[in-house]
Amino acid sequence: MNQPFTPETQLSNIPTNVRHFLWNDDYIELLAHKLDLQKVRTLVDIGSGLGYLSGVFAVYMRPGSTVYGFDLDEAVIKQAQAFADENPYSVNFKFQVADVHQLPLTDGQADLAICQHVLVHIKDAAAVVAEMCRTVRPGGKVVAFEPNSLAQSLVLDSVSSTYTIQQRLDQVRYQAYYERGKRHLGGGDDSVGDRLPQLFLDAGLTNIEVRLSDKSAALVPPYDTDEKRARVHELRTWGEAYRANRDYIRSCFLKGGGSETEWAEFDEWERTENARMLEQLDREAFVSAGGLMTYIVIGTR
Ligand SMILES: C[S@@+](CC[C@H](N)C(=O)[O-])C[C@H]1O[C@@H](n2cnc3c(N)ncnc32)[C@H](O)[C@@H]1O
Repeated sequence: MNQPFTPETQLSNIPTNVRHFLWNDDYIELLAHKLDLQKVRTLVDIGSGLGYLSGVFAVYMRPGSTVYGFDLDEAVIKQAQAFADENPYSVNFKFQVADVHQLPLTDGQADLAICQHVLVHIKDAAAVVAEMCRTVRPGGKVVAFEPNSLAQSLVLDSVSSTYTIQQRLDQVRYQAYYERGKRHLGGGDDSVGDRLPQLFLDAGLTNIEVRLSDKSAALVPPYDTDEKRARVHELRTWGEAYRANRDYIRSCFLKGGGSETEWAEFDEWERTENARMLEQLDREAFVSAGGLMTYIVIGTR
């Protein structure tokens, strides 16, 4: 089960937050060239959170350019603005509380609109893609970084490598129930990445290009870098996050077609597998190639 996102997971433990490590630097450089960031005078990051993505893109933009970051979460917006103000960026960051369905920008104001792990939380992703398009000038670009989270259920690590074929299929089935139920409850589509090309076509975007991020969430001993420590921290707090969100996960699971019996099996499985993982982490023996299937879809307005 993928860890449900909550504002707390974003705000807490900033120095050890895995969101600092969502991309490979050389891949960002490649994207900076691909998106011609040097020529982008106005960038808008919707559902910006702490502005991790616009923060790395801003480095490639010309001094005096503007980056808007919009998010519903006031605490996160304050923290993002404070961080931008305290650091020597040559672009102007303007973080503001706003709903991504109704951005406080005029039509065509931006050269580039981006979102990362935002459409997964949105009931009607098409409406938000349309709003991103509205804010971008003709010839400007819309870029979405969004996952297929179901694919992650097939990734083997040092805990799941012993599973039978049936257990591996069970893992996929559990995640599929959760994702379908979450969608039906209006919580968004955790695998919206697969639908991005269609959403972009329907929004009238052209020259649609589909890429995959080359980042994996690998963890290989020794756990001796900031990135690995952040991953260990995330895995160690997994059980806690699961317990905190258990009721919501259960309602999604059942809404998605899972039975009470299957839920009980899943809940027990989650507990025992988490204990096995923690035991391996204690011995620095947990190994994972990490998977991650994050699409980067680019369209021109
Ligand atoms: C998983 S976080 C991603 C944050 C950031 N894009 C990043 O990659 O670190 C999702 C963000 O979307 C924001 N969000 C969700 N629904 C929103 C809405 N309707 N309007 C504005 N922000 C929204 C949440 O508050 C959260 O900060």
